[in-house]
Amino acid sequence: MASTVIAIDGPAASGKSTAARNLAVRLGIPYINTGSLYRAIAWKAGQKGISTRDEAALRAMLADTVIRYAVPADGGNPDIEIDGVFPGQALRAPEIAQGASNVAAIPFVRAFTLQIQRDAAKNQLVVMEGRDIGTAVFPDAKYKFFLTASPRVRALRRLAQGGETPDNATVDSVAAEIAERDKQDMNRSVAPLKQADDAVFIDSSGMTAEDVLDAMVLCIREGGDA
Ligand code: CDP
Repeated sequence: MASTVIAIDGPAASGKSTAARNLAVRLGIPYINTGSLYRAIAWKAGQKGISTRDEAALRAMLADTVIRYAVPADGGNPDIEIDGVFPGQALRAPEIAQGASNVAAIPFVRAFTLQIQRDAAKNQLVVMEGRDIGTAVFPDAKYKFFLTASPRVRALRRLAQGGETPDNATVDSVAAEIAERDKQDMNRSVAPLKQADDAVFIDSSGMTAEDVLDAMVLCIREGGDA
């Protein structure tokens, strides 16, 4: 039987989070952002003064780390709880993104995160967003989408998200940062960013968030549910 996951994968700032959140609301099911997992690991490393490329130190840190998705006290979607704390928006700080990509390239980190993601989708239909959901985490996902947009549109979208870029950021600097991170995400040895063969491809460059939602809902209806 196909798993109970609707997977949305794609490169940085491609509109995955907006699409995933909107789709989850439309279907009345939870939304899970898996980038937060890697961001939380990079965040904790930062707090401890550990480099996100220092594999030995990260291994020791993870041995002493408890991460899970939990619904915050004020409700909403399951969010990352690390060592009893919900870092929330702190995970979206500009300096965290590259660190998240660094830790995400390490095989033992991905082994650590795999079960956490699978547990988060146990026994319920969820929308899950990331880089490898349809290829590695849930290769049998019920529906799979691969969402992208042109580098310029993605840079503009990221710039429009307050607090996620450095104060002096420009379209070109943000596009360069995103391109660098995508390159690392596409070229890592474990679970690289790539479109699953059976994913529906959506280039949202010229689409509104509403257009993207409609396209996804149409696919799901054609698939016989929702
Ligand atoms: O929001 P944005 O697209 O900038 O990034 P994110 O989804 O929060 O992911 C941050 C980083 O985590 C990515 O650059 C990937 O390296 C990593 N990631 C991953 O490897 N696998 C996932 N399923 C989700 C994120």
